[in-house]
Amino acid sequence: METADGATTTKTNKMAMKRRLLRVLDGERLWPPPVWMMRQAGRYLPEYRATRARAGSFLDLCYAPALATEVALQPIRRFGFDAAILFSDILVVPHALGQKVWFVEGEGPRLEPVDLAHLALEPDRLLARLEPVIETVSSIRAALSDETALLGFCGAPWTLITYMIAGHGTPDQMPARRAALIDPIGVDRLVDILVDASISYLAAQLRAGADAVQIFDTWAGVLDDAGFRRFVIEPTRRIVEGLRAKIPGARVIGFPKGAGGHLPAYVRETGVDAVGIDWQASLDFVRDDVQRLVAVQGNLDPLHLVTGGDMLDAAVDRILARLGEGRLIFNLGHGITPDGSVDNVARMLARVRGVGGR
Ligand code: CP3
Repeated sequence: METADGATTTKTNKMAMKRRLLRVLDGERLWPPPVWMMRQAGRYLPEYRATRARAGSFLDLCYAPALATEVALQPIRRFGFDAAILFSDILVVPHALGQKVWFVEGEGPRLEPVDLAHLALEPDRLLARLEPVIETVSSIRAALSDETALLGFCGAPWTLITYMIAGHGTPDQMPARRAALIDPIGVDRLVDILVDASISYLAAQLRAGADAVQIFDTWAGVLDDAGFRRFVIEPTRRIVEGLRAKIPGARVIGFPKGAGGHLPAYVRETGVDAVGIDWQASLDFVRDDVQRLVAVQGNLDPLHLVTGGDMLDAAVDRILARLGEGRLIFNLGHGITPDGSVDNVARMLARVRGVGGR
């Protein structure tokens, strides 16, 4: 039987053990801030390229739990980030809904475009098809040390729709933007399917051991005010609400890239615990109008990890100076690019953690 004292000790240990990134999501300000990097498992790492070569196609890698676990752990082993992120892709959701999705080497994703008038998606099959990804979540969690948080993720409906309608990446997301104006009801139907799919998928990730989930809305910044509310804020709000109905207290990070002046409304109306900030954002605006409301995550220009040097140090210092007084998770303003250098990543981390003086 445990004594009262023993119980207290257990509780204290448990609290001291809470993963640093989760402490920030739950309301604390930490110094130095926890840090991880979008696309931290990826082609800038030689060990990723080696595993990737063994896997065959990129989608094969996403659906192979042992290999996907291995690549998710690689940046943790090398750099000791405060969080690992599930290794997968946002496009496994359209794929699991029955859309044809494949990746062309050196070019990017290809999809057979959906026909809004005749949607032939199979939401009932979603979780069965995503079973290997959920297995990857449990397997990463089992391999991680106790201090390291594990993030799950999905693509936000709007960003998924830009790929599902165009059939590939586009510089200006024009096919989806046109559809949103010509057939908003049709786009809403697709949003509905993706909102439900995201709720089930994220809930499964949290149940399998993810500590928090991030909703990637890479193309949030291309819509006008009405479009932003209808296709970014509202679907994200519904996902957060639906997820917390299944998993009370579910922690969510939203990343509406390019949201700019929409950030305060996005944060207030969606109820996210933290918001990802792209590198174009004004740091004074983020500090004064966003960080007051919620934890912020970002926002180093990933180009600094290519160019390095004093400019990298100065950019890290600026972020810490502007946002370090409040709740901050240090990250990039978008994913690290394949030409990012591992030495510059190490330099960034040392700077954030104050190793070697600041
Ligand atoms: O480390 C991590 O961040 C986890 C894994 C992850 C990947 N993609 C792996 C990946 C995550 C979170 C994503 C998200 C993702 N995928 C987004 C949203 C965030 C963002 O970057 O904007 C989007 C839009 C996609 C869709 C996608 N996947 C594109 C456009 C491409 C091709 C461009 C590119 O970078 O190659 C991918 C491929 C992809 N996803 C790779 C990786 C590691 C490279 C594929 C390869 O190894 O051949």
